[in-house]
Amino acid sequence: MDVREVLVGDARHMLERLQAGTITKAPQCASRPASIYTDPALFAREKTLLFRRAPLMLAASCELRQPGDCKVMDVAGVPLLLVRGKDGVVRTFLNACTHRGARLMRECGHAARLTCPYHAWSFRLDGSLLAIPAREAFGEVEAEEGRLVAFPTTERAGLIWAILDPGAAPDFDAFLGGFDALLAGFGFERWHHFESRTLEGANWKLAFDAHLEFYHLPVLHRATFGPGMSNLAEYFHYGPHQRLGLLTRADHVLEQDDVAGLAGIAESEWPQASLLFGEWIIFPNVSINCFYKGGRGVIISQVFPGAEVGQSTTVQIFLHENPPAGELLADARAMSDFLGHVVGEEDLPMSRDQQEVLASGLLPRVRFGRNEGGVQHFHAWIDRFLGAPDGATLAQIMQRA
Ligand code: FES
Ligand SMILES: [Fe+2]
Repeated sequence: MDVREVLVGDARHMLERLQAGTITKAPQCASRPASIYTDPALFAREKTLLFRRAPLMLAASCELRQPGDCKVMDVAGVPLLLVRGKDGVVRTFLNACTHRGARLMRECGHAARLTCPYHAWSFRLDGSLLAIPAREAFGEVEAEEGRLVAFPTTERAGLIWAILDPGAAPDFDAFLGGFDALLAGFGFERWHHFESRTLEGANWKLAFDAHLEFYHLPVLHRATFGPGMSNLAEYFHYGPHQRLGLLTRADHVLEQDDVAGLAGIAESEWPQASLLFGEWIIFPNVSINCFYKGGRGVIISQVFPGAEVGQSTTVQIFLHENPPAGELLADARAMSDFLGHVVGEEDLPMSRDQQEVLASGLLPRVRFGRNEGGVQHFHAWIDRFLGAPDGATLAQIMQRA
């Protein structure tokens, strides 16, 4: 795949849509039973058949820049510990001591070795067992039995993915299908982690649906984005992943590298940053949006299922191309505050409101319009994962028609 050719093709298509003033509509409206957001049995299936089969984008490389840097997170009920080893390789472990299951680390940070807070078993950064206190009294432990449980992990485009099934084949190529090569245009491995925030919402799909359409922008976000905001998304699909281009000619708060500005410039001269326009969706639960206030930055939003069907956690990871300093620092903080407010005070309260209504069980179905093709695409791919037989490999799920 010629990455620039794909990106230029998308930008050319977006420019045509802008000039026509219309989007490509999905072939038809779609609907789903309202119970997909409220059914605990379906939620349990999603956690095993989707969140333990699909590779998940868990972290940006710059969150674990140095050997010994760690990130702790719980994903769909799985306690995780990401560690960059002395060899520079990032590994994803079950955050569980192999003695009796204590969480090895409670907070993100830096460690030369991983020492359990219960009886002080210690592990090397590659997950191998390093030492057992009072070993002679304890008795023998095979090296392999003592090794931390590890998940298939890959680092690409300055982002880290893992599959939360220790026995899964590392079929990242089949899953990403080159989408990582497009994302590599950002050069995230050279970016900087500014801060992260955690926000609580309703069912993870209700929370994530709001990342997949622009229909609600001038309505729900009229106080923040303004009532004149475009509500039209042009969708670009790459397997389960997608991009959304906002059909607007006006500069707005998030996007400086407006595609409309490419008109009249030779394609060979189109700047890389403009080719990366729009919102990037990494299936099943991550979106990436660009902004320019406080310097060029992105917000990576991860929407994780919560403990119950009606709960989710949205983690906002703010990355900047250059560490904001001087006057840019206040702007960068204001940008994080603004996006924290938009999602935390507008999108997620709406998701909780919908959850309460849908939990009544009296609204039979929800609908996705022809202008919400990205939401349709998302739900179709969830169905594909849930519909695949128990033993299906990732490669088989990706190939199923
Ligand atoms: S549970 Fe970790 S050392 Fe005992
Ligand atoms: Fe929104």
